[in-house]
Amino acid sequence: MHLHKYEKIWLIFGIGSLIVFLVVLGYGAFWQGTHPQSHGVTIDPNNIESNEAFKPENLGLTKVSDDKYIVNIAASAFFYDFGKDEEGKTVNHIRIPKGSTVLFQVATKDVVHGFHVAGTNVNMMVEPGYVSSLETVMDKPGTYTVVCNEYCGLGHHLMYATVEVYE
Ligand code: CUA
Repeated sequence: MHLHKYEKIWLIFGIGSLIVFLVVLGYGAFWQGTHPQSHGVTIDPNNIESNEAFKPENLGLTKVSDDKYIVNIAASAFFYDFGKDEEGKTVNHIRIPKGSTVLFQVATKDVVHGFHVAGTNVNMMVEPGYVSSLETVMDKPGTYTVVCNEYCGLGHHLMYATVEVYE
């Protein structure tokens, strides 16, 4: 088989690119153990309460400073646990003043779930063994629905919570 000069050049370029790609991917994924940016912290999937943030009393909204909040959420089939209210009832709703910087931290007790605050850039996969976290500024008032974007079983479509941003 006869190859033209340009065919050869492009063939070498193609194979070269593939090698470069595989080396970069291999280095990032295996050597450095890179995970998605939102999955920096590991957690015991069978005991998420061993992590301070996911102890029952630390779930839900915590005020850090005037316009900074942390929200810790324990996800499980088919519920988002935002902690308990004054009456001891488990809630899946929080209220945040407009303009707040909010750090969402989510861990799952069982299978893979999603955590998508519809209408915002908060959209995470929640994997067993990892804390998914993302910080955002909630500057538009309204009630946002949190939905699960990962099929997690029969009650998947029932899994939701709400985040209210008020003026
Ligand atoms: Cu949780 Cu789908």
